[in-house]
Amino acid sequence: MNVHTLESQQRERIPTEIFGDADEACVRLATEIAALIRRNDAAQRPTVLGLATGSTPVRLYRQLIRLHRQEGLSFKGVLTFNLDEYYGLPRTHPESYWRFMHDQLFDHIDIPAANVHVPDGTVPRADVFASCRAYEEKIRAAGGLDLQILGIGRTGHIGFNEPGSTRESRTRLVTLDGLTRRDAARDFLGEANVPRHAITMGVGTILDARAIVLLAWGEAKAGVIAQAVEAAPTETLPASFLQGHANVRFFVDRAAASALTRVRHPWLVGSVTWTPALVRQSVVWLSQQVQKPVLKLLDEDYSEHGMADLLTERGPAYGLNIKIFNELQHTITGWPGGKPNADDSCRPERAAPHPKRVVVFSPEPSHDVLGMGGTLRRLVEQGHDVTVVYQTSGNLAVPDEEAIMAVDLVAELAAAFETSTGPAAVFARDTGRELLAKSAFDGDTAPIRRLKGLLRRGEARAALKGCGVAAAQIRFSDLAFYERGRYRQFSPDRADVASVVAMLRELRPHQVFATGDRDDPSSITAVCFDLVRKACAEVATDDWFAECRVWLYRGVETPWAASEIDMAVPFSPRELAQKTQAVFHHKSQRSQTPVAMGLREPWQQAEQHNRALAATYDGLGLANYEAIEGFQRWLPPAKG
Ligand code: GLP
Repeated sequence: MNVHTLESQQRERIPTEIFGDADEACVRLATEIAALIRRNDAAQRPTVLGLATGSTPVRLYRQLIRLHRQEGLSFKGVLTFNLDEYYGLPRTHPESYWRFMHDQLFDHIDIPAANVHVPDGTVPRADVFASCRAYEEKIRAAGGLDLQILGIGRTGHIGFNEPGSTRESRTRLVTLDGLTRRDAARDFLGEANVPRHAITMGVGTILDARAIVLLAWGEAKAGVIAQAVEAAPTETLPASFLQGHANVRFFVDRAAASALTRVRHPWLVGSVTWTPALVRQSVVWLSQQVQKPVLKLLDEDYSEHGMADLLTERGPAYGLNIKIFNELQHTITGWPGGKPNADDSCRPERAAPHPKRVVVFSPEPSHDVLGMGGTLRRLVEQGHDVTVVYQTSGNLAVPDEEAIMAVDLVAELAAAFETSTGPAAVFARDTGRELLAKSAFDGDTAPIRRLKGLLRRGEARAALKGCGVAAAQIRFSDLAFYERGRYRQFSPDRADVASVVAMLRELRPHQVFATGDRDDPSSITAVCFDLVRKACAEVATDDWFAECRVWLYRGVETPWAASEIDMAVPFSPRELAQKTQAVFHHKSQRSQTPVAMGLREPWQQAEQHNRALAATYDGLGLANYEAIEGFQRWLPPAKG
């Protein structure tokens, strides 16, 4: 079936397929690639693949490796051309794309070294132009690209073709966008270390490929995917130029598809079954669209905005408005753990039992207070037994400068309280030496990671103290997948799930808070959420679990839309300031580069999001609060 012919996809200018998850999409694409290689092998033709880096294609490469190992797929007849490379990084640099491709794919398959091409990031400036032309020439000499794999950056870039790249652009040296550099900051252990330039195939080079598949996972990509697929092609979003290609497809997971019209506003592109969730979604949308509170929406507003059939089915506006207004009103509660001895028939949480045992899972220290610092404080104040579980140590995200300060402190303490050969003094001396000796991109030694982890523990304790959570109520799981991993290369296993299961069985919570459900599957938050999901499936038949409700909170990157919220917890200006203070305690996570403008610091972002949500509720005609934290109820999968 041609996807363009479906009514719901009428606005889509690129065939887009939505998969249950990233792995499902990658299995499909790997199977297609294997078939292509086998066809070309049989015809004694080489297969020319354009490859991409980033987290996105990693799962595809895992599938290709699996096909090689388990099904004898050979890459001897494959030539590869990578999209891009950072300028100025030698191949040996851990973050060079050359290194990345070898680690993630080439070292695990039988591709001949001579068949692999990655733009050379080390050519002197004067030779860059010639080197880029030679790269294009090599692609042409190989017969052109049979298939180009793409990811997409949050600026809408493909390869490193940042906004402003023209449709005709060819392989060249480019300057990286600020957002792109920020996104790469974690890999480079700080934004300051991220190269400013890169060499990339041009948009025109990419469009010359005979077939193109762009992959995207996670909600952070939803906005650019919707624009690339549905808006007019524009230089401000280079991925939109793919619309002109005769054989291009987007493979996305549900989260990355969530801003497509057929998902976000399906009533605009065909008839829909009006589920309660969809009715709420559409009325909230209408209210925002016409900038009127829900209770002031008129029949004309509905019919002039493509919602006439909702009116016919559920109208007139008067009753529908009241129904949705009440639903939204009932999401608001100052009692996130339930209000004891009160009628709870219209409240998001049950009144009993009171107090509740509450477990807050935080993927790294700081996610908890960023996403729900205000609610945490409320829960404690209202007498609940709150335990915060930090799933990972977060030590990968601590800059060396912070660790050097900490090691100095330990050294001073050791000097004050013990001899120079005491254990703390030795630790401080050795770790200090290691820190000074390491170059910017060396991985951390075990003692450095330990120190960095301890530093984050200290920050977490201070932040939680501000929220009223005592040190005894904090658990540091230090999950093993994180300790042995590196960004993009985490491979959690049974032991990690078992640790979450054990925590749940010990604490037997009535309420669980978790985050990361719609994030990029290789991100720490998504990996941690997946562990919670698996653990919940395992305890699903435990007696206590029947009484347990799971709530999802959101980080600052992808806040909830108002219509997705099942529980909205409002705050006073004073409470918001207290939350900001709590977030501020995670000082090692502040932005690493000074910026003149914009809200860059985590506490500023959290504050802004909570205020924005309150303004949204106000706009819908509900009470006007200073700030709101939102939560969605999550129904865990059944066991098995
Ligand atoms: C980098 C790469 C792109 C990639 C993008 C998205 O900028 N040059 O090719 O698509 O990042 O990265 P990720 O897949 O990690 O989200």
